[in-house]
Amino acid sequence: MAVEEKHISSAVIRRLPRYYRYLGELLDSGVERISSNELSERMKVTASQIRQDLNNFGGFGQQGYGYNVEYLHKEISKILGIDTSHNMIIVGAGNLGQAIAGYADFEKRGFIVKGIFDINPELTGHSIRGINVKMFYEMEDFVKNNDIEIAALTIPKESAVEVANILVKAGIKAIWNFAHTDLNLPKDIIVENVHLSESLMRLSYNIASRNKDKK
Ligand code: NAI
Repeated sequence: MAVEEKHISSAVIRRLPRYYRYLGELLDSGVERISSNELSERMKVTASQIRQDLNNFGGFGQQGYGYNVEYLHKEISKILGIDTSHNMIIVGAGNLGQAIAGYADFEKRGFIVKGIFDINPELTGHSIRGINVKMFYEMEDFVKNNDIEIAALTIPKESAVEVANILVKAGIKAIWNFAHTDLNLPKDIIVENVHLSESLMRLSYNIASRNKDKK
């Protein structure tokens, strides 16, 4: 069965970027093949979990050989859709927007920042990694004319819904939403919400429960 025809659980999808990262590191250090047991030791995931996860995509492994690192890395990149590039814009050139725009490594994964937009005229002419900040009123046409698939929303939550609707009208396919609000967009628009504070709260929970165990 072709990968795209099969339903893959979101738990597996969540683990794939981590496999991708580890396999990338192995590739960089010249490792050509690896057994699920070795991968399991490095990743602190059980070998059976790894086999189960990768079996979703036809396995890729061979009995007695293990996994071909380069092949598996490439196949996972195809599954994650990062074997092709995606044009992206950032809306909101404040602290967070500028930090994301300044992080060149996203481009290695195929996410190409084509434009950065803000409503603050003082930011006109400001440039991040050679990308000039443009004014918000230019955004709609820019999305339409530059094959932009993804918009990162790094603006206050008060204007996020309105801006998201403009982006949808302009033909955006996906929103990487950092604003602390739900966007409720049409079903065909992919939304990935990112909340660093939630991650920090999980960390805090783990500190609290460890402290409780010690008492
Ligand atoms: P900031 O105040 O430094 O930047 C916000 C920028 O958005 C400003 O330059 C402002 O002029 C611009 N802006 C406001 N309304 C706009 C609109 N309608 N269109 C285009 N640009 C607009 O704030 P910061 O620190 O960069 O945070 C941005 C947002 O991200 C905030 O809502 C904050 O709560 C959120 N945030 C979310 C995190 C997460 O993990 N989800 C982490 C950090 C911040």
